[in-house]
Amino acid sequence: MAQLRLGISGLGRGAMLTVPGLAANARIELVAGFDPSREPRLGLRRAYGVRAYESFEDLIAHPGLDAVYIASPHGHHASQAIAAARAGKHVLVEKPMAVSIAEARAMADAAAESGTCLMVGPSHGFDGPVSLAADIIASGNIGRARMIQAFNYTDFLLRPRRPEELDRERGGGVVLSQATHQIDIVRRLAGSKVRSIRAQLFDWDTERPADGAFSAFLFFENGATATLGYSGYAHYDSDALLGWIGEMGRPKARETHARARSRLAGTDEAAQKQARGFAGPASNTAEPPVAHEHFGFVLASCEQADVELTTSGVILHGDTSREELAAPLPETRRTNIGEAFAACVLDGEAPIFDGAWGLHTLACCHAILRSGDEGREVMLDEIVSESH
Ligand SMILES: NC(=O)c1ccc[n+]([C@@H]2O[C@H](COP(=O)([O-])OP(=O)(O)OC[C@H]3O[C@@H](n4cnc5c(N)ncnc54)[C@H](O)[C@@H]3O)[C@@H](O)[C@H]2O)c1
Repeated sequence: MAQLRLGISGLGRGAMLTVPGLAANARIELVAGFDPSREPRLGLRRAYGVRAYESFEDLIAHPGLDAVYIASPHGHHASQAIAAARAGKHVLVEKPMAVSIAEARAMADAAAESGTCLMVGPSHGFDGPVSLAADIIASGNIGRARMIQAFNYTDFLLRPRRPEELDRERGGGVVLSQATHQIDIVRRLAGSKVRSIRAQLFDWDTERPADGAFSAFLFFENGATATLGYSGYAHYDSDALLGWIGEMGRPKARETHARARSRLAGTDEAAQKQARGFAGPASNTAEPPVAHEHFGFVLASCEQADVELTTSGVILHGDTSREELAAPLPETRRTNIGEAFAACVLDGEAPIFDGAWGLHTLACCHAILRSGDEGREVMLDEIVSESH
């Protein structure tokens, strides 16, 4: 197979952000899509000239289909990934891999049984500066990563949302959707699995009840630690620390958070949400990035230097020097996702973000939730062993 023929399930915001980077890959041919709503189906045809089906089964049965990118709401990831694997299709599934650990395990098992690729993401663990920092740390030249800080102050909760995105039972709130990014980043930098987590969750907005903020302290198996801080309440904006470059690598207005509540008030939230995907007009996601995507402020303290992640690469703060290193910026956002997926399907190269990786990151999310609920340190083994 010289080129993989790809279908897309779920034509909303996530797909809108990632499909350009998949379609730009010469080894990937975008051949079809699926969405239960008509407008996104029409949008995919407008944008890429391909057919979008009205059912997942029809998508999977599309002649010659090799693989599927699953960008449906969290609750559908597992059933669709398992059905695809059983039909012999390779799977790229959006983060979070699934809602429950049992689902994630069943997905990994289905892929292993059918011998198909299962790749999870894209999370910001794929960002160019994260890869550069991870490579520098893994080289051993600046000692071991010991103490990582990652914090992000966003407007996540005040963007248009589907009801299930605010409902923890269905995978809603900031932990499964947002902590996933931070966990993937700090796992890459620490170069180790997480042993235990102590966390606290916050639900501050009575008009929009949901898990909206958290603090978490992670202990890694190799002795490194990470402190995560996240708020989705659209108050402070941590992009101030990243030169007012937004998450997608584009310049951002300083008033964005101050306007978040008024933008949402009195509007049809479902329609606003849908308009951010293929159903809507071309958004700024189609504009080329001027900088790397990012997920807030990240600093990894190693034994001989601190590594600061920026929107162009990293800054190494050493004993006697301060060195800026650039990470190559792709013309199209997320082309590295397409490259990693094509390498898995066509060359048999195991991806970093495989099923086992996704399962461990999901387990970290559940450890954050449980630690917040029960007010104690939670061992990852406890979360993972329960679902057997
Ligand atoms: N990696 C990223 O940068 C990123 C960004 C946004 C969303 N996401 C992920 O993408 C997924 C979807 O979130 P979103 O923000 O795009 O939501 P969305 O509401 O914008 O889009 C979801 C789309 O899925 C469709 N849909 C509903 N039920 C479906 C089903 N059973 N099968 C297929 N499609 C179905 C909806 O009609 C809608 O068009 C989530 O898992 C989310 O975490 C990832």
